[in-house]
Amino acid sequence: MRITVVRGDITEQQVDAIVNAANSSLLGGGGVDGAIHRRGGPAILEECRRLRVGHLGGGLPVGQAVATTAGNLPARWVIHTVGPVFGEGHDNIGPLASCFREALRVADELGARTVAFPAISTGVYRYPLEEAAYVSLWTLARTPTSVDEARVVLFDQKAYDAFDRARQALDPS
Ligand code: APR
Repeated sequence: MRITVVRGDITEQQVDAIVNAANSSLLGGGGVDGAIHRRGGPAILEECRRLRVGHLGGGLPVGQAVATTAGNLPARWVIHTVGPVFGEGHDNIGPLASCFREALRVADELGARTVAFPAISTGVYRYPLEEAAYVSLWTLARTPTSVDEARVVLFDQKAYDAFDRARQALDPS
């Protein structure tokens, strides 16, 4: 799998699936979650609600992932995952790595070949950027998958710089 790091808005990506940094309720929020629901329209929330009355009655646990339609977005699917709130549990790395692994597993189930990821947990959930960049890219590089491209989309320059540095450190070639 090719891993690319770009600066941009994840809602504009022409990929098969985009990953949402959601919360357990799946019923929306701010940050990238808010942007995805705003741009994608009500179909995404409607499907999230159906999941909540179905098998996800207790909400989506941290580190897991589930797919819905992408509504009006250019992508076909949104893969929702819930990152850890930094410092809340004894382990921060495990649950963050799990988000990336599980999102790729769901992408494989869907047959998605190009997947865009945000910097999960680095906003409202306060995961330090440099650490999150290493954990995220390290996990993507080591997860077996049929996905051809994982595109990590960073919204601001500081996040882009952190992920670009981690990318170079992990793969200096
Ligand atoms: N495209 C790409 N990245 C974006 C976009 C966008 N349109 N909007 C925000 N981001 C970036 C933020 O700059 C941050 O680096 O996404 C990263 C993740 O930040 P959050 O969206 O705050 O996600 P997270 O830290 O995982 O917190 C999740 O925030 O709004 C809620 O419902 C969400 O409660 C959940 C929590």
